[in-house]
Parts: sequence; C-alpha cells; structure tokens
Amino acid sequence: MANALAGVTPESVMFVPTMGALHEGHLSLVRAARAAGGTVVVSIFVNPTQFNDPADLKNYPRTPERDLELLRAEGVDVVFMPTVEDIYPEGQGSQGSGARAYDFGELDKVMEGATRPGHFAGVAQVVSRLFELVRPARAFFGQKDFQQVAIVREMVRQARAEGANWAGVEIVECPTMREADGLARSSRNVLLSPEHRAAAPDIHRALQLGAQKAKELSRRELTEYVTSETERGGLLRVIYFDFMGPQACVAVQAGAVRLIDNMRYDN
Ligand code: PAF
Repeated sequence: MANALAGVTPESVMFVPTMGALHEGHLSLVRAARAAGGTVVVSIFVNPTQFNDPADLKNYPRTPERDLELLRAEGVDVVFMPTVEDIYPEGQGSQGSGARAYDFGELDKVMEGATRPGHFAGVAQVVSRLFELVRPARAFFGQKDFQQVAIVREMVRQARAEGANWAGVEIVECPTMREADGLARSSRNVLLSPEHRAAAPDIHRALQLGAQKAKELSRRELTEYVTSETERGGLLRVIYFDFMGPQACVAVQAGAVRLIDNMRYDN
C-alpha cells in the first residue's frame, strides 16, 4: 500500500471503503470520488469485527475478480485489498496503532446498534484503521447505511478533537442507488431467494406510502402502517422501523437475508 501510494499526497486521496461484492451503489461512490479529482483509492475488506453473527460473515458474498474488473473499468487508481493481519496486526481485539474505542452514547444503542450488538464498534474500528492507513482527504459513504454515516461522522468529530492525524478527512454522503423496482442496491441482494427478491421492493414501497401519510399519522400509527405494508405479502418481517431525526429507517428480515433502507419523512 505504501508503495502503491508513493508520491500521492493525502490532500488528494479520495477514498471509497467497501466490503466488495460491488454493485451500482458502490460504483456511484467511485464516480463521486473520481469527479472530486485526485487519486481514487478503493478498499475491499470484509471486516470480521463488524459481524456479530459468524454465519453472516461466512455467507457474505465475495467476488474479488469481478470487483477488480469493475474498478478497472471505472479507472480507479489504487485498489487496497488488505488481509486481516494487515488491518489488525495486534489481533482483532486491538484498535491498531493510535486508534481507540469510541463512545457513541445513544447513537450505537438503537436500530442497527440494538439488533446487531458490537456492529458499530467494529465499523468504527475498521474505518478508523483504514483512514489511518490511507489518510484520505475525503471518504465516500452511501446513504443506505444512514446510521453508519452518522457513526463515522461522530467518530471523526471525536478523533479530530483529540488531534488524530487522519481526522481531517471530510465525510461525503451519497444518495442510495436503487434497482428499477425500488429495492435499495445492496451486496446482500444476491443472497435473496427468487421469492424474497420478488417481495423485497415492498420495503421501499411501504416507506414511500408512509412518507405520504407522515403528516397525518402519529409515529406509532406510522410504524404500524409501514410495518403492515412491508409485511403484506407474508414473506418479509420488519425487525425495526424507527426514526433518526426526520429519517425513517427500517430493517427487514427476508428469509435468511437482512435488508435495510431509509427515507426522509417531512412530518
Ligand atoms: O458499508 C460497508 O461496506 C462497511 O461497513 C465499511 C464502511 C466498508 C466498513 O467495513
């Protein structure tokens, strides 16, 4: 990595962290990074510390050859594919040199944080380590992972207050990319059975219906309405529907696959 980036100043590095199994959503982040100018670095690393379920980690899709082809076609300058040892030289329990655990208060106790214990500690651990190694000027994240973006922003804010040498990074949030039927693009979509794939657009449809009623229904009524619209086909189960500010966020179990989505509600 150090050799690959020789001569590149941190001010010019535009960074897209990923776990691979790339799709249009990732490529839209890559294009936003390219449009910003400078050297585009994409990392591919399936981070074990953010998976609270070993089966989920094992089944997470991995398509490195196709990923490299896609990134080559996008004109990406550097693809960083570290090993677990590169990221966690002192073991997965460690935070890497100079990094530390963060206190996110309520932010990592709700929604994804409540239903996937330890998930955001793992995200903060790997993202801070990647920032430390790559030293980007800007890093690009998708709005589909709305709570993750909030966590990363808060992590950078705390690191900046402590003077971490990577904390000048600017976090850029990019819109959710969707399939033609409205399903948010996700690496996990390829794991859906044909039946669950056919049902999955109900997540976005129900969020849209909720948005139309956001002014007239209470939060509790909205939760019931969006949940019943999502679950109407009998194949999807809502894990949570909750708000982070004006953002309505949902997690859904679709067979063995867990999907998330969100939408701004003006109520
Ligand atoms: O959103 C993801 O793909 C991952 O959580 C990230 C940010 C690459 C950290 O592993």
